Amino acid sequence: MIVVFLGPPGAGKGTQCKLIVDRYGLTHLSSGDILRRERKENTELGQKAQSYMDSGQLVPDDLIVAMMMKEIGSQSSGGYVLDGFPRTIGQAQELDKALVAAGKKVDVVLNLEVDDNKLETRITGRRSCGKCGTAYHVTFNPPKTEDQCDKGCGALTQRPDDTSEVVQQRIKTYHEQTSPLVEYYQQQGNVKNVNGNLDIQEVTKALYDVLDGVKTSA
Ligand code: AP5
Repeated sequence: MIVVFLGPPGAGKGTQCKLIVDRYGLTHLSSGDILRRERKENTELGQKAQSYMDSGQLVPDDLIVAMMMKEIGSQSSGGYVLDGFPRTIGQAQELDKALVAAGKKVDVVLNLEVDDNKLETRITGRRSCGKCGTAYHVTFNPPKTEDQCDKGCGALTQRPDDTSEVVQQRIKTYHEQTSPLVEYYQQQGNVKNVNGNLDIQEVTKALYDVLDGVKTSA
């Protein structure tokens, strides 16, 4: 199964991906996580991406498409969830071309809808584990021990782009450049809207209901 996960920053895409991948035998491919790994390793791509990410802008399409095609190409079998990619119409067209060439298609687009006024609280309260990638929230999803990952990885950190100022730019960027993808995929008839305003567990249940009903091309 090939899943595209759409939704504004802080909608809960990463949180939900971690909860659904095991159940469906999928791999989680997060463009944001891959970029953060590149930055940590101080690669050329990581250096090029840094200023865009820290200011809430999108990294240019050519860099992202090359990065994600490499990740997708390394998936030998099974399906995957694309979290944070595609994020522009140009990226979606490149993905479609690559999938058609491989005799595949996007099976479902999960569109996680969250009201703008909830996003800033979610993002500024996020604390993430730099090792396993698990995201917590100081109020809505706190770790068992304050500021420590439940999986024993160590201290949690706050992303540099999770400040109020950058969050507002990220939300603006989402509305301008990424939300048009909902219509793009609606024309392909595979969008499922999911209410992301609910509690984490209720959202997970709604996603299971959608994914249980998806007929895959694989
Ligand atoms: P990326 O890492 O993809 O960030 P994002 O899309 O802004 O998404 P987030 O990771 O902020 O949110 P999320 O939806 O995963 O929320 P989460 O589950 O953590 O991208 C970062 C940057 O990289 C971009 O700005 C851009 O510069 C660049 N980039 C990445 N991909 C790109 C691309 N394709 N093209 C160009 N540039 C690209 O949840 C957030 C918080 O809320 C957590 O604390 C969580 O515990 C809490 N929470 C989750 N669900 C709920 C709920 N239901 N109720 C209450 N709290 C909740």
